[in-house]
Amino acid sequence: MPIWFGGDYNPEQWPSDVWAEDVTLMQRAGVTMATVGVFSWAKLEPREGEFEFGWLDEVLDGLHAGGIRVDLATATASPPPWLTHAYPEVLPVTAEGVTLGGGSRQQYSPSSPVYRRFATRLVRQLAERYGEHPALEMWHIGNEYGCHVSHDYSDVAAAAFRLWLQEKYGDIGALNFAWGTGFWSQQYADFEEIYPPRAAPTYLNPTQLLDFDRFSSRQLLECYLDEKRILRELTPQIPVTTNFMGFFKGADYWEWAPHVDIVSNDNYPDPADPESSQTAAMVCDLMRSLGGGAPWILMEQATSAVNWRTSNAPKRPHHMRAGSYQAVARGADGILFFQWRQSVAGAEKFHSALLPHAGPQTRVFREVEELGAELAGLGEVLGSRLTAHVAIVFDWASWWSLEQEATPADIDYVKHVFSWYRELLRRNVAVDFVKPGASVDGYKAVLVPALFAASTSDLAVLSDYAEHGGNLLVTFQSGITDENLHITEGGYLGSLQKTLGITVEEFAPLASADPNAPVESVIEGEISGSVAVWREYLHADDAQILASFVDDLAGWPAITRRQTAEGTAWYVGTWPSAAVIESIVGALLETAGVDGVLDPVPGLEAVRRGELVFALNHGWSPVELSLSGTDILSPGGAGGAGGAEGTKHALEAQGVAIVVPAAEVAG
Ligand code: GAL
Repeated sequence: MPIWFGGDYNPEQWPSDVWAEDVTLMQRAGVTMATVGVFSWAKLEPREGEFEFGWLDEVLDGLHAGGIRVDLATATASPPPWLTHAYPEVLPVTAEGVTLGGGSRQQYSPSSPVYRRFATRLVRQLAERYGEHPALEMWHIGNEYGCHVSHDYSDVAAAAFRLWLQEKYGDIGALNFAWGTGFWSQQYADFEEIYPPRAAPTYLNPTQLLDFDRFSSRQLLECYLDEKRILRELTPQIPVTTNFMGFFKGADYWEWAPHVDIVSNDNYPDPADPESSQTAAMVCDLMRSLGGGAPWILMEQATSAVNWRTSNAPKRPHHMRAGSYQAVARGADGILFFQWRQSVAGAEKFHSALLPHAGPQTRVFREVEELGAELAGLGEVLGSRLTAHVAIVFDWASWWSLEQEATPADIDYVKHVFSWYRELLRRNVAVDFVKPGASVDGYKAVLVPALFAASTSDLAVLSDYAEHGGNLLVTFQSGITDENLHITEGGYLGSLQKTLGITVEEFAPLASADPNAPVESVIEGEISGSVAVWREYLHADDAQILASFVDDLAGWPAITRRQTAEGTAWYVGTWPSAAVIESIVGALLETAGVDGVLDPVPGLEAVRRGELVFALNHGWSPVELSLSGTDILSPGGAGGAGGAEGTKHALEAQGVAIVVPAAEVAG
């Protein structure tokens, strides 16, 4: 098996005489896998119940003859016009009551039994026809579930929501308690009275909103599972996947991940964003973690510009290569793109592709060919894993609830998580993400940013960890409510109060009249520097104070640390600047005995996957790489780590070295 290389192939956009050239050029580019048919429903079933597979037979046969494997899509991502015309009840509806029409894509309600019936009928046809096709490598179910429509407020969704709630709560009394409907005259007498949280005069019930987020993620998953059941029945030997979208708010991927045979992901970092390589690293680590450390596939990325930002910067030369190797370094066994040939019509004609409008004599195609050739020689990476000693707890329910309205402050959950992740990345420390409640035994340090809505058992796992030798760091707005968004009274934090040795009395966010000019404040002590967004009135009942607030909160603790029975428990009651986070993480890692793969060098990322150390220069000027060993991308050559004896070498702008460390070479 090779490292998969290729991308979405949508041949129905061109006359069939282009297809043979496609295969020839794919071979030239080193393409090993094509994702076929993602948006082909209207071509496969042009009229209700009339299936036309001849063209797809020809495409798959051609790819097979060219030695290219196929990730065959179930084609259900965009229902054809005849369907929404004849059955308009499948269309999704917004919270404001606007019905979303056709002429675009993803125009279906995930709860619609009509959509599901037609979708599964198509899937059965595809599985029966192509289940034994020699080109078939895996199934690609749907596409980016929820990307455009994650929440549907239609009557069909309302009916499904009621059933889901009935199953969850059993009787209406339990729902009334969970939702706190005693307030604002919201008490329900019957499940029939409940609606999705549609546009309302003011704040909606927070637990209703949270349950609707859970339900909406689940409905999308049910669409996926309906299709998967058929594929399992007819082609049990073929693996299935669906492409995730990184930190996508609409779907709780912890719930989804056990249902895919291999995790795959789409990632489109903005080339104009100086932090894009860092946020992309975090996405890669989430994907690896979702699969429990198993290799995953980068299913879609862009060779150069996308077409959906306000202004779409291209990727400069070698940027695409560095981003691809970053994914490989962080566990990917496949590097694919959207899409093979750049469209000449339709909504994505200005989106880059492997084969640009200008043809193969282009710098993009040359870079594609080079990368394809290189990846073909990297078989030894396949299947190898990373070892992380640090974990970050990431929780969709906390994300959903922390970012609701009528909360103490506007906190961007993912940005907050990233503020901690970025420092670990800077130090070249590998990180796993874990879901709340999962065991964290074995990690030397665990960070818990803003775990807002946590059950008693989620918190108990963390308390146990810190008491039994772990090093736990918790940040503000953790343990504020239980899983139903009921406040944990008496100082918040539940069992973590004792573990951390603190109680939180009152919140004191740093309010600013101008959102573009956030107010900053300062902390002083063993750790000093600037902070923003959040402060609080905190009591260090049984903990050491590492830093305190100044100004109007003078004397109140900001950062604490408690020596537990066998470990340590740290609390950070503010959103520190990068410099302050650097000090805190430095102290935490020293206590935990965790070192990075390499000492930090600005712009340089180093990751160990299996025995290999990947060094990636994300900057636009050369950096010095201190690592002895052999660079398997250019043994002894320029731009790498030189020969086994070498120690210091320049890594050019966007350069990549994959180094067998000297010890391994010798051994
Ligand atoms: C993804 C989608 C692709 C294509 C791509 C463009 O969201 O799955 O079909 O639209 O974005 O960046």
